[in-house]
Amino acid sequence: MRALLVDRSTPTGLRLGHVPDPEPAPHQALIRVTATSLNYGEVRFGLQEAPDGAVLGWDAAGVVERAAADGSGPAAGTAVVTLGIDGAWAGLRAVDTDWIGTAPPGADPGALSTVPVAGITALRALHRTGPLLGRRILVTGATGGTGRYAVRLARLGGAHVIASTGDPDRHGDSLRANGAHEVVAGPLEVREPVDGVVDLVGGRQLVDAYGMLSQGGTLVAVGHSAHQGETFPFGALFGDQGRHDRSIVTFFLPACTGLAPDLTWLAHRVAAGELDPQISWRGDWDGAADAIDALLHRRLHGKAVLDIA
Ligand SMILES: NC(=O)c1ccc[n+]([C@@H]2O[C@H](COP(=O)([O-])OP(=O)(O)OC[C@H]3O[C@@H](n4cnc5c(N)ncnc54)[C@H](OP(=O)(O)O)[C@@H]3O)[C@@H](O)[C@H]2O)c1
Repeated sequence: MRALLVDRSTPTGLRLGHVPDPEPAPHQALIRVTATSLNYGEVRFGLQEAPDGAVLGWDAAGVVERAAADGSGPAAGTAVVTLGIDGAWAGLRAVDTDWIGTAPPGADPGALSTVPVAGITALRALHRTGPLLGRRILVTGATGGTGRYAVRLARLGGAHVIASTGDPDRHGDSLRANGAHEVVAGPLEVREPVDGVVDLVGGRQLVDAYGMLSQGGTLVAVGHSAHQGETFPFGALFGDQGRHDRSIVTFFLPACTGLAPDLTWLAHRVAAGELDPQISWRGDWDGAADAIDALLHRRLHGKAVLDIA
């Protein structure tokens, strides 16, 4: 099969080549991939750490080529969205049926391919903040792939949504159109305490956002793009009046269980147009290096999608 391979002898570190087809385990289905979307983590760390010849890629949409031998998961011919720890940048991938959601036939695979990492992370992080209806939710890094899903989903859930971006002048309109009630240039601009935070940036923003939590509030530490440590000033962790019982919880998508129903639910919302994945770069997979460069240098705000020929 054709695949996008890690190859450090090329200027981009990637090369389109051929590798043997994957051999699925009994609990895995073989998927014919039609689109993949890029994620910050896989391009920031995966490309640095993977050996030459590796096939990276977490997100893929496609069609079941061969159903799992153990009878689990969808039948051959079903449109699907899939998550894996590698193998999405290829014509075929083998995926655990726990990490496969189904999609309506005819839906745009490019839009569907944004669901697995960004959509599921946003959904599960919001679940961890607690109930949404009538509550105030802050999303940092709101212009990114995960942030845009988090803003929209929090709005659909009935929250008052505050979106934080480094550049509100540039991104304010699109964030409000996506569901944000307020757009701020950082957590310190938030005027009233919030009940939950989905933090996609880390570092100073995490510390500042924690300071905005109301009593009983939860901050979900999802992303660490700032590459900064988190140092809390003296008194920040006091539990006094109005600030008692606040939590910070970590998040790790691969450890989440029961993902198939959530993948299916999100895929149907995207297909119905209720969730807009906010694709900001789309092209053939031989343009992957351009999209990766834009993502790594903060020029890409939304999802990058590669169509797999
Ligand atoms: N823990 C997990 O399991 C898990 C799962 C999924 C994602 N993540 C992490 O969550 C984060 C967001 O993922 P994503 O796919 O949405 O990434 P993304 O598309 O790159 O978006 C991140 C957003 O954060 C802001 N940002 C980027 N670099 C920054 C910096 N140095 N300082 C401050 N703000 C910065 C940018 O917004 P502005 O330019 O508008 O400020 C950007 O749009 C990443 O760190 C990713 O690795 C973790």
